[in-house]
Amino acid sequence: MKAYRAAILRFSTDDRTAIYDEDGLLVIGPDATGRQVVRAVGAYSSLAGDFPGVAVEHLPGRILAPGFVDLHIHFPQTDVIGSPAEGLLPWLDNFTFPHESRFVDAAYAREVAIVFLDELLRNGVTTALTFATSHPSSVDALFEASKARGLRMITGKVLQDRHSPDGVRDHTEQSLIDTEALINRWHGVDRLGYAITPRFAPSCTDAQLRGAGELAAKYKDVWIQSHVAENLDEVKWARELFPASRSYLSIYNDFGLMRERAIYAHCIHFDDEDRALMRDTGTAAAVSPTSNLFLGSGFFDYAGADRVGFKYGLASDVGGGTSFSPFHTMLAAYYVGREGQTKPGLSIPPHQLWWQHTAGAAEALGLAGTVGNLQPGCEADFIVLNPRATPLLARKTQQSRNLEELLFAMIVLGDDRLIERVVISGAR
Ligand code: GUN
Ligand code: ZN
Repeated sequence: MKAYRAAILRFSTDDRTAIYDEDGLLVIGPDATGRQVVRAVGAYSSLAGDFPGVAVEHLPGRILAPGFVDLHIHFPQTDVIGSPAEGLLPWLDNFTFPHESRFVDAAYAREVAIVFLDELLRNGVTTALTFATSHPSSVDALFEASKARGLRMITGKVLQDRHSPDGVRDHTEQSLIDTEALINRWHGVDRLGYAITPRFAPSCTDAQLRGAGELAAKYKDVWIQSHVAENLDEVKWARELFPASRSYLSIYNDFGLMRERAIYAHCIHFDDEDRALMRDTGTAAAVSPTSNLFLGSGFFDYAGADRVGFKYGLASDVGGGTSFSPFHTMLAAYYVGREGQTKPGLSIPPHQLWWQHTAGAAEALGLAGTVGNLQPGCEADFIVLNPRATPLLARKTQQSRNLEELLFAMIVLGDDRLIERVVISGAR
């Protein structure tokens, strides 16, 4: 066992409130199965006496917090960041598909996988639900690299058997055979998980979506990830291609692709029936604010989501998104919440932004109590924050009068410089 004395941020398991111990103790050790987990957490004064003989590392002025969870990202788009376009569909055609075609080369995929994981960790992201490309070897590349580092990572081979150029388009039957083989090879190995990954309805034939739905029914604890209702041209196209479905979202339901552990990126252009379908099926939204602002897609309606009551969490959506940094994503989510011309504008409290990128994102994945929090039993993935990492952060955080002001100072001014250390399964 090992213990850390510092300030500690975690989240209540009953609601979305933050719990903050200014002088806290975090005790890490193996559980019955040998996983490194949080054994105890709370005020130093009340816990210290319970662990005689356990080495305590004192980190004065530092904050321990759960590793961030990125609910939607594309590892092969690491180098697509910052590609300007007239909206989603030209961005896919002109930048994304040509770049993803390079991942047919397994050596290239392995190289980018390393860069991607380095970048996630530098930014304090310890778990991500990420797209690979349509090439099965891209999935192997990321799982191998994640396994070597002991990370909890989820990915899957992209399904796209139409409206996609040569080099990324796959074949219906083979794509489903490959998906099932990858599930059997990787899902549940160490901390790895597989996600069935139809790119989006317009890039998939009925037969491919049907096959994906059949796999989702057969492998119930495998994840599902896709995109929906991101951009108005995309919505119109999806409705034309699937006229029998009530809405763009309901296409996925009609093919058996909405359930617990299904995560859909964007979810912007929804009506209340869509929101109720999300809620009733236990499906979650990956809110991707830097991407939505960069591509001019629209603004996620937080008030609408909370009124109807479906699950959501925060995502970078790199490379439509512009940053790996959860601080940049949380700040963009604040801007999106504030936007009040197309929907009700609200001021999302800082602890809720943080929750959306940690415990809330974990809950959306069905991993509450496993990652995204520092409650007893959670896996020991956490970050050490230095709130004095830059001169302006030091000034601003020193003047914070309460937790909300402290969190907001880090959200507005923070980036990878705030992350002093990342601990995975109890190891640096
Ligand atoms: N819709 C289909 N593919 C993509 C993608 O790669 N990124 C985003 N943002 N939306 C998509
Ligand atoms: Zn995406």
